[in-house]
This record gives sequence, structure tokens and C-alpha cells, in this order.
Amino acid sequence: MRIISSVEQLKQAVGVARAGGRTVGLVPTMGALHEGHKSLVDRARRECDVVVVSVFLNPTQFNNADDLRTYPRTAEADAAMLEACDVDIAFMPTVDDIYPEPDTRVFHLGPVAEVMEGAMRPGHFNGVCQIVSKLFAMVEPDRAYFGEKDYQQIAVIRAMVKQLGFNLEIVPCPCVREADGLAKSSRNVRLTPVVRKVAPAIYRTLKESLRFAEGHSLEQTHDWVVATLNAYPEMEVEYFSICDGITLQPLDSWDQSDNIVGCITVYCGDVREIDNIRYK
Ligand code: PAF
Repeated sequence: MRIISSVEQLKQAVGVARAGGRTVGLVPTMGALHEGHKSLVDRARRECDVVVVSVFLNPTQFNNADDLRTYPRTAEADAAMLEACDVDIAFMPTVDDIYPEPDTRVFHLGPVAEVMEGAMRPGHFNGVCQIVSKLFAMVEPDRAYFGEKDYQQIAVIRAMVKQLGFNLEIVPCPCVREADGLAKSSRNVRLTPVVRKVAPAIYRTLKESLRFAEGHSLEQTHDWVVATLNAYPEMEVEYFSICDGITLQPLDSWDQSDNIVGCITVYCGDVREIDNIRYK
């Protein structure tokens, strides 16, 4: 595995590696790698000749300075994990490598980027699009792998790919969970032991809501999920949206779409946990 930090070296190494028509898979990450990332890397390894993983804590997507400051940084362990996963190129740049000048681009990706995370974290998706579009331009991957835990992020990246005309396949990969159902996340290490104990209620409640939904309206199901989770003193639902799985716009009734997803963000202590469930 080559560890590269310079953009020029990255382009050169990928150019050499793809010679002869070899396919290139990209897994963009912000480091603090866990089993969820590993599943993306393993899938890229199975499906592509050359696997590039970027490890870059992208400051432009953080709308909260404390979140950026406390985000776990585990560069050495990340490199070891990627080496063990048989990655070809680990791209581990500095902020100056990626942003020698400030990135002033503003993306207008429409309603898909304006709801949920887009509404709660102003500028977040703009920063995601800045870094992901740069990575796509640098690596020119055939496929790029993203976890479905961040359901909206995938929809926003698809919209960006369409708008900028990138020629690649976005590959969504299933959310990987702890044994008790909590979605794996780099931020989980910041949960206090008490909060860590109750946090699995998020996915448990989402799963239970599938059965609840059979006998109740969309609005009743929404309110039941929110009330069930807010009953835990350690948790507070920031939003729960039962929405169309493509447009991500909130729905009023179960028969309004045949592709329905529930997307939730819950404050567990001061850690923001995000998850989702498919209703149809
Ligand atoms: O999902 C993430 O970890 C980040 O948003 C991404 C896609 C690596 C961009 O920084």
C-alpha cells in the first residue's frame, strides 16, 4: 500500500495503476475508521482492480467548531487497517494539500439538499460536495462507495454527480451495526457509558415502528417514534422525517409513495447520532 499526501503524486499513482483499463474504486472517509468503513473498502476490493481510500477530516463540512475539534483522529490505526484490507493507495492529505486556496464554490442541489441535515447543518452539504467533487476530479474513479447510514448524503452526492457530469457509479452500502443495533459511527467513542447503554433504542424503536406503522397513520408513526425516544432522559430527537426515498421530501400518508424511508437524528448526550429505516 502506498500512503500519499500530495495531490500530484495521487494523480500520478492512480494514472499508473489504472493503465491497461484497470478499474478504480474510491472510498472517501474522514478517518477514525471502523467496521463500517471496512465493509466499504472490502466491497471496493471485491469489485475494483485498484482501491483508493482517502482519509481526510474535511473542515469545510463542519458547521460546528466543537464537532470538528472533538472528532476522533486515529491516523496510524487507520493506515494499519487500510494496509490489512489490501488497499492500493491511502490518500492522507493535509488541509493545505486539499485547499491551497479557500474553496469558494457554492452548490445549488435543490430540495434534496435543503431538508433534514441540510436544514439543521447549514453549509454541511456544501462542504461535502466541495471535498467529494475534488476527490472525484483527482482520482477519476469508476465507482465510489458510501455508507447508507448517511442516507441523505448519498442523495446529495448523486445530485452533485449529475450536475457536474461526473462519469462514475455511486455504490450505496448497507449500514454496519454494533451487536446491539447501534449504527457504527466514528462519533460513538464520544458517548458516555450511560448514554452508550441507551443509544441502541434508536434503531430498536425504528424497527418496532415498522410493526406500529401497519396499524397507524404516517403521522401517528412519526409521533410515536419521537415520543418513544424522547422518553429517555439521555436522548432528544432533533428531527425524524418519514420521506420519499428519492426526493427526501416529507410525506403525509403511506400511500403517497412506494419508496419510503424514515431518517432520524437524535442527540445522545451531546453526540449527534443519525440513522434510518426503510418502510417500503
Ligand atoms: O461520510 C463521510 O465520512 C464524509 O462526509 C465524506 C463523504 C468522507 C466527505 O468528507
